[in-house]
Amino acid sequence: MLTEQKFKSFKDFIQDSSRDEIIWMSGYLAGVSDKNTTATPPAQPEIVASTEKLVITVVYGTETGNSKKIAAKLASVLKSKQHKVTLKALDQYNVANLQKESTLYVVMSTHGDGETPSAAKKFYDHLYAKQHDLSNLKYAVLALGDSSYPLFCKAGEDVDTRLDELGAIRLLPLEKSDLDFYPVSEAWISNIVNHLPTTANLLAPKPQPKQAKNGKHFYKGVVQSHINLNDKGSLKETFHIEIGTEEAIYYLPGDSLGIVPVNTDEDVQEILSLLSADKNKTVTYKDEQFTLLDLFKTKVNILHLPVRIIEKYAKLIESELPLIRLDLKNILALYPLTKNILLEDFIAILEPITPRLYSISSSPYAHGNNEIHITVGRNKFWVNDKEKYGFCSSHFAGLNEGDEVTFYINSNDNFRLPLQDKDVIMIGPGTGIAPFRSFLFHRDDESAPGRNWLFFGDQHFHKDFLYQSELLSLFDSGLLTRLNTAFSRDQKEKIYVQHRMQQQSKELFNWIESGAYIYICGCKDTMAKDVEATLINIISQEANINEEQAAGYLNRLEDEGRFAKDVY
Ligand SMILES: Cc1cc2nc3c(=O)[nH]c(=O)nc-3n(C[C@H](O)[C@H](O)[C@H](O)COP(=O)(O)OP(=O)(O)OC[C@H]3O[C@@H](n4cnc5c(N)ncnc54)[C@H](O)[C@@H]3O)c2cc1C
Ligand SMILES: Cc1cc2nc3c(=O)[nH]c(=O)nc-3n(C[C@H](O)[C@H](O)[C@H](O)COP(=O)(O)O)c2cc1C
Repeated sequence: MLTEQKFKSFKDFIQDSSRDEIIWMSGYLAGVSDKNTTATPPAQPEIVASTEKLVITVVYGTETGNSKKIAAKLASVLKSKQHKVTLKALDQYNVANLQKESTLYVVMSTHGDGETPSAAKKFYDHLYAKQHDLSNLKYAVLALGDSSYPLFCKAGEDVDTRLDELGAIRLLPLEKSDLDFYPVSEAWISNIVNHLPTTANLLAPKPQPKQAKNGKHFYKGVVQSHINLNDKGSLKETFHIEIGTEEAIYYLPGDSLGIVPVNTDEDVQEILSLLSADKNKTVTYKDEQFTLLDLFKTKVNILHLPVRIIEKYAKLIESELPLIRLDLKNILALYPLTKNILLEDFIAILEPITPRLYSISSSPYAHGNNEIHITVGRNKFWVNDKEKYGFCSSHFAGLNEGDEVTFYINSNDNFRLPLQDKDVIMIGPGTGIAPFRSFLFHRDDESAPGRNWLFFGDQHFHKDFLYQSELLSLFDSGLLTRLNTAFSRDQKEKIYVQHRMQQQSKELFNWIESGAYIYICGCKDTMAKDVEATLINIISQEANINEEQAAGYLNRLEDEGRFAKDVY
């Protein structure tokens, strides 16, 4: 195969090389022949004997706790194999250490519209901010996501790609996990253990990533009750919706109901007429066949399109468009699809409707397995001085008794009731009350002896006290041990739940010290942050420790599963 001259040089070269060098070269040559390229050689990994202890860092970026759970499991498995393991949340990870790491495993979910969890943003931005030399780093990434979203596992995928670009050595191919993440994460952990950066493993072929599975089971139900919980004159509309099913629904308090909303008939008709298209024409979208009517009604998002689609559309019609979010009907009206463009090419740039989640406000024990309740606040916002409504919450607001609803259960093991004898503190203003209604009915049905303390808040006592009569009767019956309310607009000074908590500082801390579990549900950006800061303040004040120590105290509660958030 080689010329005599080449063979001689090759033999001479090998004679001067150590055994480890030869092993590394054989791996490198296999890689080169695989890719049929003579690209720059990969950085040479540090090779250790398989019995040697490795120094490993496991980091996670999470919003709802799944990634944390997997990362903690991986860390404990690696520790049990005597490796020196550090487990860190990405917001607590010192990004300056990245260049000093030798082995890093990343578990990261995707949130928003293809974004990192908020706690992982600093790490992500750091990776992309400048060129770092990560050639000493070996890594693997597990990306968590939901394939119903257009940018499936995007944040984890970006981190995997960027680490590779920065010269780090990928120990395992990127693994993407769908909602039903358990089988994939278990396989990933065992692959890691079998492919630790030891001599033999680095040369062994890498396992192929598993096909991510979307384990959603869709239920068909009918609206049985639809009530606006706010009174006349309120600025809000919050609907209590009961959905009945023939099939038994399997869920637990703490889970949420997922729904993929459908577009309105008016919008769909307008789009079809702007396209001058026959509603019964069959088209293929993501390997499935639909009539155009079904496609625009149930499958593709036609509202507030992200800029990436506007860019694709501009390219398709070879025209300049302002790069702002617009509804599809406005785009088609302003910049019509030109005749020479195939309908299929246009459809291919559209993205599926993303699901929305609603915390379940019923309990399978108290209400049975054939009905499920949710508490939906109609989302309102202003565009150019015009009041507009959110897509899915409006869909729910407009439902009537007898209407059909198709939904799935989004389970959340990170937001569960504790054992019956434990005390719980629930902080849930506005629609944040939903899972706590479920918790309270569940505990009532179980006759759980643990104490229950609820902080609820909204704008006005008379118009916005959601589930007032139910909560008051649960209080009268003794199931609710304490009920504190904060109505922000009933007096000059704004009063929120965190102010009520601060007023109850001593008692709250007594509950926490005697083992209570703390839950927060509702608005992520304002309420949850303020409530968490207040908790830290209360702990600091009552335990007589500084804020940093108090934050550490709360972190420990979170690690023990005694502090959980379900915020959005
Ligand atoms: C785990 C979880 C639990 C939840 N539980 C509940 C619950 O119990 N109850 C509840 O009510 N909600 C809950 N939510 C929130 C819910 O899922 C939805 O996010 C909420 O109802 C808004 O969805 P929407 O389709 O109505 O609004 P969207 O149409 O998605 O609009 C959302 C926002 O996008 C912007 N926007 C949309 N269209 C335009 C436009 N044309 N121009 C400018 N801006 C625009 C606005 O800022 C608007 O407020 C939960 C969320 C999560 C993640
Ligand atoms: C509001 C919201 C937005 C989401 N956006 C995406 C997304 O854009 N892409 C994706 O793959 N998954 C998305 N997901 C799914 C999450 O990544 C998935 O539920 C994951 O298991 C959460 O893991 P975590 O608990 O570690 O945050 C989204 C979930 C929610 C609730």
